[in-house]
Amino acid sequence: MEIAPGAFHLQHCLSLERQRAMADRCRELVDGAVPAYVPVVRGGGMMHVRMLCLGRHWNGKTYRYEPTRSDFDDLPAPPLPEEFRRLAGGIASSVGMSLDADLCILNYYDADGRMGLHQDKDESAASIAAGLPVVSVSLGDTARFLFGGLKRREPVEALPLESGDAFVFGGPARLRYHGVSRILPGTAPLELGMSGRFNLTFRQYDSSTQ
Ligand code: SIN
Ligand code: MN
Repeated sequence: MEIAPGAFHLQHCLSLERQRAMADRCRELVDGAVPAYVPVVRGGGMMHVRMLCLGRHWNGKTYRYEPTRSDFDDLPAPPLPEEFRRLAGGIASSVGMSLDADLCILNYYDADGRMGLHQDKDESAASIAAGLPVVSVSLGDTARFLFGGLKRREPVEALPLESGDAFVFGGPARLRYHGVSRILPGTAPLELGMSGRFNLTFRQYDSSTQ
């Protein structure tokens, strides 16, 4: 369903089997050799998620991408798994967009997790100018997702992102404000054996391959 030009909410995009495999992989990653952590951002506040970047690291202090986590432990960002990259490209093409993702921000929200309204604008200027989309995939508990306009003060729409949903925003919607106001605890499919929510946002920093 196109909720604004260039913005699509794809409900039940992933089968339960696919969700389970992906949630298992996310769990391994966030508790792996390069673990997820709670970033401290520019103003000194802590984010309300645990974050792990794959492919390229987003530095919460500089708002720039880098190969290693210089704001935390200097470890290199783990590679973006090939099957994740393929999934994101397939979701983008299902709505007529193209994405050759080279990074993913994997966030884990516990029952108190949230994310303030923001724009995703730290990818390369060429990628953003081309309107290459952000592809978001949600697993686990439902989130109350906020989707606004190109200015912070514009009205926001709230929509539930459930486990297995995808949300794509590219083209004219690429710089729309968005955030997560709350998590609905206990709403994850039982088959996933998880509480809380994983959200994966795939992006293409380097647009030279398009
Ligand atoms: C984000 O904007 O980076 C996360 C969005 C979400 O968790 O659905
Ligand atoms: Mn974002």
